[in-house]
Amino acid sequence: MDNQKMNPVHLDPDYEPMSNASNNTRFASILEARMARRGVLKGGLAAAMTGLFGGFALTGCGSSSSSPETGVAPQLVGFKAIPVSDEDTIVVPEGYSAHVITRWGDPISANNGVFPEFDPLTNTGADQAHQIGSHHDGMHFFPIEGNDPNEGSSTDGLLVMNHEYIEPRFMHASAVGASLTRSQFPRIDSDNRDDDEVLKELNAHGVSVVRVQKGVNGTWSHVQGDSLNRRITGLTPMEISGPVRGTDWVKTKYSPTGTMTRGTLNNCAHGVTPWNTYMAAEENWAGYFVNNSPRPESQSRYGVRPSGKSRYAWEDAQSRADEYVRFNATPGDGAATEDYRNEPHCFGWMVEIDPFDATSTPIKRTALGRFAHEGVVFAPSIEGRPVVCYSGDDARNEYIYKFVSAQPYHKATAGGYLLDSGTLYVAKFNADGSGEWLPLVFGQGPLTPANGFDSQADVLVKTRSAADAVGATKMDRPEWGAVDPNTREVYFTLTNNSSRTEADAANPRTNSRWGHIIKWQEGSEDNTATTFNWDIFILAGPTDDSDFNGQPLNEDQIFNSPDGLWIDKDSRVWIQTDISEGVMNTGDFAQFGNNQMLVADPRNGVLRRFLTGPIGQEITGVITTPDQRTMFINVQHPGATTAAGEFAAGNMNSDWPDRTTNYPRSATVVITKDDGGIIGT
Ligand code: FEO
Ligand code: CA
Ligand code: CA
Ligand code: CA
Repeated sequence: MDNQKMNPVHLDPDYEPMSNASNNTRFASILEARMARRGVLKGGLAAAMTGLFGGFALTGCGSSSSSPETGVAPQLVGFKAIPVSDEDTIVVPEGYSAHVITRWGDPISANNGVFPEFDPLTNTGADQAHQIGSHHDGMHFFPIEGNDPNEGSSTDGLLVMNHEYIEPRFMHASAVGASLTRSQFPRIDSDNRDDDEVLKELNAHGVSVVRVQKGVNGTWSHVQGDSLNRRITGLTPMEISGPVRGTDWVKTKYSPTGTMTRGTLNNCAHGVTPWNTYMAAEENWAGYFVNNSPRPESQSRYGVRPSGKSRYAWEDAQSRADEYVRFNATPGDGAATEDYRNEPHCFGWMVEIDPFDATSTPIKRTALGRFAHEGVVFAPSIEGRPVVCYSGDDARNEYIYKFVSAQPYHKATAGGYLLDSGTLYVAKFNADGSGEWLPLVFGQGPLTPANGFDSQADVLVKTRSAADAVGATKMDRPEWGAVDPNTREVYFTLTNNSSRTEADAANPRTNSRWGHIIKWQEGSEDNTATTFNWDIFILAGPTDDSDFNGQPLNEDQIFNSPDGLWIDKDSRVWIQTDISEGVMNTGDFAQFGNNQMLVADPRNGVLRRFLTGPIGQEITGVITTPDQRTMFINVQHPGATTAAGEFAAGNMNSDWPDRTTNYPRSATVVITKDDGGIIGT
């Protein structure tokens, strides 16, 4: 067995290649300028935060959340905050309960008449296509009526979730006893991988659609064999739609007409359309491909590997079957339709899935741009007005985008076609708190043949380059977005940015080790405006940071690396964290413990820790049933902090959630309030 050997930076599964060499202004310097402008009175950022929180400083457990101005604000956040934790378990506040469903490997459909029970040492690649995938991420609960994504049954529905990536050492019998890190995998030899292991890894990626129901005893479980249960994987045929469809960019041996591709990969967060479909984002897909010849800008600007093997070396599957060799994008001697030089252009999109039609073909919607899509979030739809959605590009110094449909939304006829034509914009944040949406439209501004853009398809395939050209603002890794359904304000997490090393790195307010959350209000009610006003919602960090220069967070509130984000019907802001496995529970990251979830009331500044997770994982994905009395969250990659030597010795540092097997498993956690109340109260 020969372990993966390559540039160490590529060994981190969270590796977001920093590929932005443009000179656009960094968000850090803008934030600093804005804070300096606003911080003329004592308190500096505290004053800024106070403004954001409607006149009140952040408060923790025990503080009143009613507004002195009105005296009537209902208590959105009512539980007693929990402390940080480094225990290998889920902790929720007093009065709440949590239990596990839909673990990686749980069978949802039958393989040749048999539901394959989870056993990582004997399950085959084909079995995995009938089981819940690995590395759960973005997720939505679709009420079973299938009419509206947020209204309907609160006891019966489809749970649809992304499976971002895999930890191969936990998947294969051949890995037992080997010294493997979380991103390494077994090989037959330096140029060959076992076909069934490759198949299993591809099938553990993608999306699960699974029926879940609340039983008479109040306990939730999934319905094995339901007709709507479905796995979408790294192999599922998908249609390419929008301006890039049929262009030379996406013509491959598999699809010489450039209309189809196979699979979706590295699906991080998601989106839910107003017409009740699910969208899976393709985030860190670039590293799944290698191109050993000089890479075109459409690949180098995204971090397609320039040499060696792809992330999991799937191209080395011993059979050299067509569905595996495509991960090597090195051009052959013939035409583009005879090889897979264009395969990386078939990834980096938002993928629309109809969860209520198990035979439907997923569709890659190219008009929304090509980048490391963290997810997509739709503004509440308005009859007769365009559809508006937002998407962040999660890599260091990349951008935040907005799409506005060309055609208006009409509930009776709305569908995915609305995402095939419209205007893609990229955000520019000005130092004075204003912002602009810069259109990425072929022929406008610098997006002309003189600068390498010959069509809208060129603009979309090279979205990052187009955004560079128009002068967008470089951000600290944009992760999830959320839109407040009551105020229509837009929030985005900016998780951290390890590439910022200049002098201001010592200032925790701009120190991107901890991350922050930004918010803005569009200049028009329907979110279609081309200008906005922005502010900082929360700067994450510890309590004792002497450089914080403002109101510090208290023990009930400290967190870092905000990632998952969701705003519920009442405007509670749910915040999930993703401290990297490389630093989790080490050094000054140890004070934050394991990854966690908090909730804020944006009207009065109440912020409290609601949940802490087991060892080595991140908390990601959050949704409630329409009645807000059941919450689903995901736990991704428990045990990922197990060192190679510990793995070889069979000592995983987490056995969550099963306890009885040696293998930690990503899983969904169901949270209910013991008195049957709304989650968060
Ligand atoms: Fe997959 Fe940006 O987190
Ligand atoms: Ca994420
Ligand atoms: Ca992560
Ligand atoms: Ca993250």
